Amino acid sequence: MNYDIKDKTILVTGANRGIGKAIVESFIEHGATKVYAAVRQLNSVSSLVERYGLRVLPIQVDLGDPQSIVAAAQAAPDVQIVVNNAGVFQAGTPLAEDAISPLWNFR
Ligand SMILES: NC(=O)c1ccc[n+]([C@@H]2O[C@H](COP(=O)([O-])OP(=O)(O)OC[C@H]3O[C@@H](n4cnc5c(N)ncnc54)[C@H](OP(=O)(O)O)[C@@H]3O)[C@@H](O)[C@H]2O)c1
Repeated sequence: MNYDIKDKTILVTGANRGIGKAIVESFIEHGATKVYAAVRQLNSVSSLVERYGLRVLPIQVDLGDPQSIVAAAQAAPDVQIVVNNAGVFQAGTPLAEDAISPLWNFR
């Protein structure tokens, strides 16, 4: 798959660490105009803002809080691409007693 992100405005959730932070860095280095770094704590992306300046804009989003998602959509109307990366990876072993049940705990 090939998609040109040059000159695009992008929003990445979970942008402050792990895979999300790496996505932000890669997008900026490949020519994105601007990346909204959607995070729970705005100061958690200070290092990205220091490095990339106004090309990284922190925006508050908690995916457990629908109002924060609506507010972010209203605050960032110029977004062309959304990467909804934020989440929690729960590792387990195939034969563990709770190998299936965690999948149903998000109700
Ligand atoms: N790493 C792997 O091997 C792997 C494998 C398969 C899938 N994934 C998926 O890839 C994504 C990123 O993985 P990762 O390893 O980079 O994870 P990570 O290092 O644990 O980072 C998780 C990110 O999600 C954010 N987040 C968690 N809950 C949130 C919520 N309710 N609202 C907003 N942000 C929230 C965290 O923010 P805070 O800093 O505020 O907690 C953090 O930025 C996840 O969706 C994960 O399930 C990862």
